[in-house]
Amino acid sequence: MAYETRLLPYSRESAAEAADLLSRRQIVAIPTETVYGLAANALDEWGVKNIFRAKGRPQDNPLIVHIASMKMLAPLVKEIPDTAKALAERFWGGPLTMIFPKSDKVPSVTSGGLDTVAVRMPASEAALDIIRRCGFPLAAPSANLSGKPSPTNARHVYEDMNGRIPLIIDGGECSVGVESTVICFKKGKIHILRPGGVTAEMLAEFGEVEVDKAVTAEPEKGERVLSPGMKYKHYSPKADVFVVNAHGEDFIRYCSKRARFENSLLALGAGVTEEGIFLDYGATAELQAQRLFTLLRRADELGAKTVLVETPKRGGMGLAVYNRLLRAAAFRVIDVV
Ligand code: TXA
Ligand code: MG
Repeated sequence: MAYETRLLPYSRESAAEAADLLSRRQIVAIPTETVYGLAANALDEWGVKNIFRAKGRPQDNPLIVHIASMKMLAPLVKEIPDTAKALAERFWGGPLTMIFPKSDKVPSVTSGGLDTVAVRMPASEAALDIIRRCGFPLAAPSANLSGKPSPTNARHVYEDMNGRIPLIIDGGECSVGVESTVICFKKGKIHILRPGGVTAEMLAEFGEVEVDKAVTAEPEKGERVLSPGMKYKHYSPKADVFVVNAHGEDFIRYCSKRARFENSLLALGAGVTEEGIFLDYGATAELQAQRLFTLLRRADELGAKTVLVETPKRGGMGLAVYNRLLRAAAFRVIDVV
């Protein structure tokens, strides 16, 4: 399965070409506002199987189905709770994925064998345009090789997918930079399985919100997790990543000290202006979300063996940044005292 992978900037022509390939059961990487996705017809078992193949992804990890209108939702699901309707009204298109009981139209490869389906309407005009042209919903996981940091620009996708797919549509840098918030509805509560751009605080206007314990805790061996994606090691560069529980001057002092004894050490600080081993990963959670995956990939390009990251603030978008970092670090947190 070797392809001459083409990279085309998003335009009416390239969108039409993407839709044409997708209609012929091929896989195309498309931009969204969160991260780039690896798309196929969500209702076509064969197309969806090819996504797993291109990505090297375990088949029990279900995919998100992307739609371009509310009309596309009804055939995919058995019921739409009132809270979901209100959330769709407020946050779609945008970085929110909701889990519904699935209809028989959704093949079980798409839902990873579960009887539920994850659906989201992206905000990205390029993504919406391509879905509309297809006329069918698109299943799309993040367009990285399984285990690598999610791609936030077309070059990242090319690094991972060159030779594996026929086309990448370049829509520029993703504005959010981490994957969508994933929620399900549990006992009348909004249950966050994966934090993202639509934050717990934003959701709280619509009902009681709870955050799944897998968001910030390492799953026990063999433990059943609600969101299968949570059990895999994720977002990892080749370097060993550590979250450092210290801020500002304390973080800088700790990293500088280690750098005297260790080679190939890189430190990502929140708003650092220091040079040398330090890179700024953003003073706000929004900037950190935008930059995190790019910087993890940069760490590999720079040949870093160890990456120390200043622990982010947990509120708002910070929870999403912290969740991704913990996984990149395989839950290794250093407490600086
Ligand atoms: O922002 C995003 O959501 C991006 C872009 C491309 O839209 N997509 C994305 O897909 O991040 P992926 O496949 O990398 O992550 C999907 C997550 C996984 O953690 C998966 O386990 C969870 O959603 N998920 C999907 N369907 C589910 C279901 N029925 N029940 C529970 N979790 C589900
Ligand atoms: Mg992913």
